[in-house]
Amino acid sequence: MRQQPSATGSSVVGSRRPLGLAIDTTFDDTSVALVRGRRELLANVTLSQYADHAEFGGVVPERASRKHLEVIHPLIDAALAQAAEAGAQVTLDDLDYVAVSNLPGLLGSILVGMTVAKSLAYLLDIPLIGINHIEAHPYANFLVHGDPAFPLVHLVAAGGHTVLIHQTEHFRWRIVGRSVDDAAGECVDKVAKMFGHPMPGGPVVDRMAMAHASGAYDFPRPMLNGPDLDFSFSGLKTAMLYFLRDHGLPTPGEAAGDRISTPIEEGPVLAAFFASVTDVLVGKTLRAARRYGVRAVTVSGGLAASRKLRQCFEAACAQAGLRLYYPPPELCTDNAAMVGCLAAYRYEAGRFDDLSLEGYPNLPM
Ligand code: KG4
Ligand code: ZN
Repeated sequence: MRQQPSATGSSVVGSRRPLGLAIDTTFDDTSVALVRGRRELLANVTLSQYADHAEFGGVVPERASRKHLEVIHPLIDAALAQAAEAGAQVTLDDLDYVAVSNLPGLLGSILVGMTVAKSLAYLLDIPLIGINHIEAHPYANFLVHGDPAFPLVHLVAAGGHTVLIHQTEHFRWRIVGRSVDDAAGECVDKVAKMFGHPMPGGPVVDRMAMAHASGAYDFPRPMLNGPDLDFSFSGLKTAMLYFLRDHGLPTPGEAAGDRISTPIEEGPVLAAFFASVTDVLVGKTLRAARRYGVRAVTVSGGLAASRKLRQCFEAACAQAGLRLYYPPPELCTDNAAMVGCLAAYRYEAGRFDDLSLEGYPNLPM
């Protein structure tokens, strides 16, 4: 279980700052957070299901829902215990609202979080706040760095989604670019798997990219020079498949020991591959920043935990005169803390939902 206690700052709201419980079960992580005001993170506990799906080579929706169901209540207890350890003795009766991600993701998984959130809202007679998981990702930055100066361009790059967002104020945002096929993280995970690495493959690819030069091989940079802000990563994945076929690196399922006899090392290959991913992510984000005339960009989502991607963004933003915001790595991957932060703004604005709130697998177009 990932645990990130820490009071990250203070809120600006009145004398008694509202306390929210936030839940995220959109995909394969179950996460519960307690947030006071906008920025005081009393607890953030996340249980990843990677090990539960490893034998199937991908997330099995039915299994994911059942796992969420199994762990959600213990995680709420764990969040309360974590807050107590950090010196904040709170109980469910102290809650002012409960927030839950109700889109997008695996519907069965979303419904587990929603059912728990609705039950709590009903029993405690407090507002329910439905949160768009994609809108919430950038709020990992607001949680840590404070109130942002809009307008902003956000890159959310994760295993399930890769989108560019233009945001002009809280609750006013638009997706201006998205992957037309695989998400960036999905592509990285699948390529890592071709080399025999277990899920999630991002961290190992990142380590390779940090340790090796990227110039020995050249992989495509899909849609980098196209006119729009959309992404495509499935062609890059296929390019790696053909590369491995032609160069004789292990195909999926081969024993790791076979790699000793391979003619090329995986380090430089993965470094070159990841350079394609980072070039596209950075290139499109900076193009969006220019197009919308913003002076700052934020990066979030699991891939934002990559040290290499950070380096690339830092260099490019410094050159372009853009401010860059990054959350700490533990708030890059899916977490309820970001949901709680966005929900705090919603609570202040009185923008609540009721028990008829529904869950949706997809983002509205
Ligand atoms: O945001 P996230 O937890 O949820 C999904 O949408 O699935 O992102 C998970 C993705 C995976 O593709 C994983 O390989 C990648 O984030 N990731 C990383 C790192 N940590 C997680 N990629 C590169 N470097 C990392 N340190
Ligand atoms: Zn996510």
